[in-house]
Amino acid sequence: MEFFDAVARRRSVRDYTDEVVPDDVIQKAFDAAILAPNSSNTQTWNFYWVKSPGPKKKLVEACLSQSAARKANHLIVVAADPNLWRRSQGPLIQWVQSVNAPKQVQLYYSKLIPFIYRWGIFNSMAPIKWLATTVIGLFRPMARGPYTRRDAQEVAIKSAALAAENFVLAIAAQGYDTCMMEGFDSSRVRRLLKMKCSERAVMVISVGRQGERATWGPQFRLPKDQVVKIV
Ligand SMILES: Cc1cc2nc3c(=O)[nH]c(=O)nc-3n(C[C@H](O)[C@H](O)[C@H](O)COP(=O)(O)O)c2cc1C
Repeated sequence: MEFFDAVARRRSVRDYTDEVVPDDVIQKAFDAAILAPNSSNTQTWNFYWVKSPGPKKKLVEACLSQSAARKANHLIVVAADPNLWRRSQGPLIQWVQSVNAPKQVQLYYSKLIPFIYRWGIFNSMAPIKWLATTVIGLFRPMARGPYTRRDAQEVAIKSAALAAENFVLAIAAQGYDTCMMEGFDSSRVRRLLKMKCSERAVMVISVGRQGERATWGPQFRLPKDQVVKIV
């Protein structure tokens, strides 16, 4: 399917048929998800494909039993955890060296990333970082933050959301349907998936073949000229 056809096909579907979506379709969508652009290529995301009937039932309940979850064939949780920069640091440094990337890139991964992703106990480093960037920022453009744990979490959440979008478009391109959900009980999802306290469920995605009452109507958007500002 062409890219723009997949974009047009994707809708938030809340009613699915009983048709089984082959695992290959989901795997292919994960391949697309992990190719999403992400902050500093730190890949601070996890994808939980909840397949076992018991946990799946609990996940549906945690999704407030909304129909998009209840009727889904597959349920995937996209999660973000800024602490996962540590998982990618070693492989990234090796990769940077193997491709002979400029020295600054090597320094970026070995020195700057650990600094950026450090906020200290109770965000104790945040004021120092803020002061440093504010003072230097008076004289030249500076990246402002992330300062706090919450800021770093926001960075990770952005990347995870982009992966989620790649995932749903890849499902659409294969002729199936999805619904992204943030209407869920995050504490229950965390407990169910035994997530660390630094990890956050960003989105639950349901997958299936759309049923008769798939959407409430044609897609609605504000006119483009209201939201696109040409400066
Ligand atoms: C961050 C996010 C959270 C959403 N949460 C839910 C949800 O919990 N339940 C649901 O039925 N749809 C959910 N949606 C789907 C939106 O309602 C839907 O994208 C929007 O109404 C536009 O419709 P469309 O996707 O068919 O174009 C969510 C979408 C996004 C991006």
